[in-house]
Amino acid sequence: MPRRFSLAVVAASLALASPLVHAQTPAQVAKAANIPHPAVIAHRGASFDAPESTRASYLTARDLGADYLEMDLQRTKDGVLIALHDENLTRTTDIATRYPERKDQPVSAFTLAELKALDAGSWFNAAYPERARPKFAGLQVLTLDEIIDIAEGNPQRHPGLYMETKVPSLFPGIEHDLKLKLQQRGWLTAGGEVAPGKHVVLQTFEKPSLQLLAKEMPKVPKILLLWVGDGSIEAKSNVPFAQSGAKDKAAYYAQQQPKDKAAFEQWVDFAKAQGAIGTGPSAALTHGGEQSYMDLVQPWMNQYTHGKNMLVHVYTVDDPVDYKKVMDAGVDGIFTNRAAELLKFYGRPAKATVAQVLEQEGY
Ligand code: G3P
Ligand code: CA
Repeated sequence: MPRRFSLAVVAASLALASPLVHAQTPAQVAKAANIPHPAVIAHRGASFDAPESTRASYLTARDLGADYLEMDLQRTKDGVLIALHDENLTRTTDIATRYPERKDQPVSAFTLAELKALDAGSWFNAAYPERARPKFAGLQVLTLDEIIDIAEGNPQRHPGLYMETKVPSLFPGIEHDLKLKLQQRGWLTAGGEVAPGKHVVLQTFEKPSLQLLAKEMPKVPKILLLWVGDGSIEAKSNVPFAQSGAKDKAAYYAQQQPKDKAAFEQWVDFAKAQGAIGTGPSAALTHGGEQSYMDLVQPWMNQYTHGKNMLVHVYTVDDPVDYKKVMDAGVDGIFTNRAAELLKFYGRPAKATVAQVLEQEGY
């Protein structure tokens, strides 16, 4: 074999051995995992327009055409999976008047019947009078079953479920319960795959819960949510908010960053090792606000994650200025409280306005 030819063969062999040859584009990764790209993830439903995690919020997100209904799962005292973000019910229900002496207790201290007696809508009308609707008053805390009913309820719209185990250390076995529910509802096949025509993503901030989700549902797409600080990515600085001099929490979070590249990469590597299809990093928002956190979607971070053939779904972005910023940085989907706005940004606007959808649904 002539030397020149031999070198070419060696070079070709080396190229074949290179990980770059096996790199897929994020769009290919998403397609293989049956995940829309870029994805519209309706954060607690259409929670800018209606009380979060309620029927009004999820119906609106579904009918607008969101790809996923996002929810934070917790478990009642009598073992029912429900959607609630906070660790207690004070912010989003009337628990302070209904059960004043128990108002700070966690979800696990209440039966489903007790939670169903709460008003999970009136707080929104008081907090956002410009978006208030009389029929939001009296909305209930929802079970996972009820959210599945909503996801299945419109013949033209089939949103997926994007489910977080919220504070899973408080709910031992919640990963198993979730698998049983998805099986019971026909969202998982007997072989443990997401059923045809359904879309499911599992998400968690906690490494042990990701491991349990991987054990229970190895064939279901999973995302590890990213944060900087205690129990998450090691921070460069441990100065607490009170001593930071930052004008508000958003400014404080915007200053926070991983200790170094390795600290960030370690979390992505862990997610990959558990078979996760991606990460869910936070974003620092242009105009701040309560959901403005650390900037974990810097291009080098997204490139690192993509280099592992993993996706990046950023939380929680509502403003077109920030949609552009995070998309330019390379993300593959966005958690948003404003599904209608994100659908418009992606060039696939809803057929009806938010107001029309809410009215059609009886609000
Ligand atoms: O689950 C992704 C995003 O929802 C994370 O933030 O606190 O709203 O659950 P959080
Ligand atoms: Ca969440």
